[in-house]
Amino acid sequence: MQAELASGRIAREGIFITTKLWNTNHRPERVEPAFEASLKRIGLDYLDLYLIHTPFAFQPGDEQDPRDQDGRVVYDKGVTLLDTWKAMENLVDRGRCRAIGKRETGPSSRYIVDATQAGDMFETSAPRGDFVLRSGLRPVVLLSAGIGVTPVLCMLHALAAENAGSPREVWWIHAARNAKEHVFIQESRQLLSTIPESRSIIAYSKPDPTDRHGKDFDIQGHLDLAGLQGLGIPVEADFYICGPTGFLGDMNRFLISLGVPPDGIRQEIFGPASSVEPGVVKAEVRIPHLPLRSSGNGPVISFTRSVLAVPWDNKFKSLLELAEACDVPVRWSCRSGVCHMCECGLLSGKLHYSPEPLDEPATGNALICVTSESLKLLWRY
Ligand code: FES
Repeated sequence: MQAELASGRIAREGIFITTKLWNTNHRPERVEPAFEASLKRIGLDYLDLYLIHTPFAFQPGDEQDPRDQDGRVVYDKGVTLLDTWKAMENLVDRGRCRAIGKRETGPSSRYIVDATQAGDMFETSAPRGDFVLRSGLRPVVLLSAGIGVTPVLCMLHALAAENAGSPREVWWIHAARNAKEHVFIQESRQLLSTIPESRSIIAYSKPDPTDRHGKDFDIQGHLDLAGLQGLGIPVEADFYICGPTGFLGDMNRFLISLGVPPDGIRQEIFGPASSVEPGVVKAEVRIPHLPLRSSGNGPVISFTRSVLAVPWDNKFKSLLELAEACDVPVRWSCRSGVCHMCECGLLSGKLHYSPEPLDEPATGNALICVTSESLKLLWRY
C-alpha cells in the first residue's frame, strides 16, 4: 500500500483505513502510544477510523492475552469505557484520526462497520418505551442484573446530576456472577459517591476466590426474598428493574410480597429473548380466560381463535397486556412498536397507536403492543 501511495496511483483520500485498540491498552495513558505504534506499523500519518476492539479492558501490559494461573483472563477494573473513549476523542481533536468507534459483534454494529461508509445517511428514530425515570422526591431503587445495568446506569447519571438540588434517596442493587462480569464498576461507584443518600448492594452468584466479600460484593448467591427483606428498602419507592426475564419475574414477586404496590414497579427485559413466543411454543398451554380482577366496560375485544370476548379495561397499557392477562398466546419482544414481533391479524375494528409504530404493520394487521385505545375489535388470536 505504501508503494501504491508513494507512486501516486492511489490517493490517500481515496482509501479508508481502520485499526483497533487492543484490550490491554484501555488505560488513557496507553491509548495514544498504542495508536501511534499502529500508524507507524502501517506507515501512515493519520487514520480514518480507530475502533475499540472489544469493550473489555484487560490488565495493561505487553502480554497480549493476560491470564491468571487458572487460565482465566485478567481484566482491568481500574478503567472505564468512558475513560478510554475520552482518550480516543483526543486523537480526533488533534487530527490524528477522523473518527472513532467500538467494534461490535452484534449484526447491527457489524453491518455499520462492514457495509457503510463515511458520508452515508441513516434514518434513525428517537428512543422510545416507558422505562424512564419518574421525577419527584420519592426514593428510587435501581435493581439490575448483568447487562440490565445499562439503562439503570443512565438513570443513575441523571440522579447524580440532579442530586445537588435534591436529597432523593437512591438504592443501587446489582447482581452479577463475579467481579469479572460486573460491568461499570468504577462508573457506578463514582456516581454513587456524589449522591449523599445512596446505598449500594452488590450480589455475586459465583464470586471468584479473589473477589472480596464486604468490599467487592455484599451478598453471595442470588438475590432472594430474604436478602431483599433484610436490606430495609422503602416500599414506597419508585422501583426500576432491568435484567433477564427470570430475574424480572423473581424481583416482581419478591417486591410485591414485601408490600410494594405494582404501579411502583417499572421494568425492562435485557437478556436472552426467552419471551418471544410465550404460549406459542411452550408445552404448558393455559386455557384463555377473562382477565382476573378486571372490571373493564370499554369496547369489546374479541380474540377469535381463543373464543374470548373481553371488555376493554383502562388499567391495561396495551392490547398486548390485555391478551397476556387473558392467557391468550401472544408473541412480543420490544413492546414499543419497533420489532413487529407482536404483529397479528385485525379482522375488524379500528385502533389508535400510542406511540406510533416505527413502521406501519402490513395492511389488515396490527401491532398490539402499542395499541391502547380501541373500538370494537376482532383479533385473529
Ligand atoms: S412487540 Fe415489538 S412491535 Fe410489538
